[in-house]
Amino acid sequence: MNTQSVIKPGLGVEKIKADFPILAREVYGKPLTFLDTAASAQKPRAVIEAETALYEGYYANIHRGVYKFSQDATEAYEANRETVRTFINAEKARECIFVRGATEGINLVAQTWGRANVGKGDAIILSYMEHHSNIVPWQMLAEEKGAAIKVIPMFDDGSLDMETYKSLLSDRTKIVAVGHISNAIGVMNPVKEIARLAHEAGAVILIDGCQAAPHLKVDVRDIDADFYAFSAHKAYGPTGIGVIYGREKLLDAMPPWQGGGDMISTVTFEKTTYNDLPHKFEAGTPNIAGGIAMKVALDYITSLGHANIVAHEHELLEYATRELSAFNSLKIIGTAPEKGAIISFTMQHAHPHDIGTILDRQGIAVRAGHHCAQPVMDRFGIPGTVRASFGIYNDKTDVDRLVAGLKKVVDIFG
Ligand code: ALA
Repeated sequence: MNTQSVIKPGLGVEKIKADFPILAREVYGKPLTFLDTAASAQKPRAVIEAETALYEGYYANIHRGVYKFSQDATEAYEANRETVRTFINAEKARECIFVRGATEGINLVAQTWGRANVGKGDAIILSYMEHHSNIVPWQMLAEEKGAAIKVIPMFDDGSLDMETYKSLLSDRTKIVAVGHISNAIGVMNPVKEIARLAHEAGAVILIDGCQAAPHLKVDVRDIDADFYAFSAHKAYGPTGIGVIYGREKLLDAMPPWQGGGDMISTVTFEKTTYNDLPHKFEAGTPNIAGGIAMKVALDYITSLGHANIVAHEHELLEYATRELSAFNSLKIIGTAPEKGAIISFTMQHAHPHDIGTILDRQGIAVRAGHHCAQPVMDRFGIPGTVRASFGIYNDKTDVDRLVAGLKKVVDIFG
């Protein structure tokens, strides 16, 4: 018998749910309905166990010891570098710099590449839908250097106005920094086209990939990204570790950022020489357990198959969009055709925080507020939204519970 033909394609959400211990918990005596993966994803048992295995079995500082545990821990930590390389299809592992998270990665680029390359009268292009972490580091740089910030506007469906983007580009544009998928409204940007146009103008491109890397196959070479940032904690991995990918040529030419151990080659009081990539940008003892567990998280995602994840999450998004659209008093913010599995909405008679609280009492975890993206809220003239975001462990039951929860909101507020 050909077993292939009887294997059902798809994600196998029941099995995945069982891999995440926290999903078995009840909240206020109700099953947990976790719809806040965009803020931070829950962790599979294998990720949790990888940290315990290190601390119980072979913990030591890395890159420094000649003894067995130090070497074993170094090997386990550095193995993540190759995993990250293949995960985002970078050409070389040395192009993958470990940082605390995407925020630190973007700050690193702004403070090193930016300080060396952006000058008075130059321009930095951002989009209206950026997370604060892809706005503020550039504002700090622009203020220091006397550069201008230009912003790509959005249409009412949340998609970017690409014609205006083209008109903002000039030979003074040094960098274009945009999100791959908006954390606030879920809209997916045409990053490959944005990169092509940036390069045509002689600028480099940085992509904040926090909401994309856990959900679709990222290919930095296909996008032609110069820098690409993402965090492990949104990808079912631990907090406190993430990646800034950089094109080797750019990273090599950039001055180091933080000074300390590991990032040096030789130190004298007269002169210090710096280590090679990737260590040049990794001062101090890193998040050893985080790096080791991050590899397990990325391997877990890869084992499920990106195509399966995309298909499953897209189906959930379509289902949720249909179900939520049936509420007369509810408005979805971000209706562009290309979206990640994030659905943001307002309700006519209830404030997002009240909705979030009513849902919480039913065991439903969503995020309510401005989602660290205040300019998006200003663009739509609203103080905030309720955001339901989906991951590999969600299914239609979770959407149905959200709908039931929203009916309670309507009962109370109308
Ligand atoms: N950036 C995270 C979010 O979107 C925290 O919720």
